[in-house]
Amino acid sequence: MPAHEISSDGISLNYLDVGNASRPAVVLLHGFPFTSALWLPQLDALGERYRVIAPDLRGFGASALGSQDPTMARLADEVAELIAAAAPDAPSAAIAGLSMGGYIAFELYRRHADRVSALILADTRPHPDSDEARANRAELAQLAIADGAAAVAEKLAPKLLAAATRSERPEIERDLRAMMKSVEPQTIAAALMGMAARADSRPHLANIRVPTLVIVGAEDALAPPSEAREWATQIPDARLEVIDGAGHVSNLERPDAFNAAALAFLDRVFAS
Ligand code: MLT
Repeated sequence: MPAHEISSDGISLNYLDVGNASRPAVVLLHGFPFTSALWLPQLDALGERYRVIAPDLRGFGASALGSQDPTMARLADEVAELIAAAAPDAPSAAIAGLSMGGYIAFELYRRHADRVSALILADTRPHPDSDEARANRAELAQLAIADGAAAVAEKLAPKLLAAATRSERPEIERDLRAMMKSVEPQTIAAALMGMAARADSRPHLANIRVPTLVIVGAEDALAPPSEAREWATQIPDARLEVIDGAGHVSNLERPDAFNAAALAFLDRVFAS
C-alpha cells in the first residue's frame, strides 16, 4: 500500500492505488467507522476504466490518528494534499464519498474546488447534526473508549443494511462488523466528534458546479432517499440513483447496480 506523508504532523496516509493509471483518477472516501476495504467491490469494476485511489483516512485502517483532530475540514485538506501528491500531472479527480466520505467530499469541494472534477455522493447528507444527534455521538464516543470498537459495531450494525442484505447475504454484515472492530476506539471517538462539528453544507449545494451523481439505497435508514430526493435537486447538474434492495452501504450491498451507475456517470463526465 503506498503512503503519503501529510505535511501538518507527518502521519502517513496509506492508500490503495489500482486500475488504469493512464486514465483519470477516481478517489473513493470511505464511511464511518470503516476503512478503504469498504470499496473492494469497486476496485476492479471502476479500475478497468479509471485509476482508483482509496485512502485510509486519518486514524482508520493503516493510517495513524496522529495528534490532530479528524475534523471533516482537516480530512478534506488531507485528501486534497494526497491528490496533488499522487497525481501531480492531473489537476483534479472525481471524488466518491459514502456517508462520512460524503461529508468530506462536501468540504473538499468547498475548500479545494480545483481538485474536484465530479462528485459521487453516496448514502450521505448535507445536513449538520441536530443537538440530539450530537448527544448520541458523545455517548457513542464514551462507549468506544470504555468498551471498545466491538461495542460500537454492535450498536451500529443493525442500522446499516437492508432487510434482504441481512437475510440473504450475511457475509456482508460479518465483514462490516470485522472492519468496524478493526478501528481503534480513539479514532472512533475522534471521528464522531469531527462529524458532530461538521458544517451545514445545504447553503452550498447551489454552488456545486461539477457534474454530480447522488446514490442512495432505497432502504437507507440513516441518509434516507426521501431526503436525498429533496437536496439533490438543489445541485445544478445532479442526478439521483436510488438502488433497490440496498440500505446505507449501497456499494457493498448492490455492487453491480452501484458500479453500473458510477461507471455510466464517470464515462459521461470524462467523455466530454
Ligand atoms: C457513515 O456511514 O459514515 C456514518 O453513518 C456517518 C454518520 O455517522 O453520520
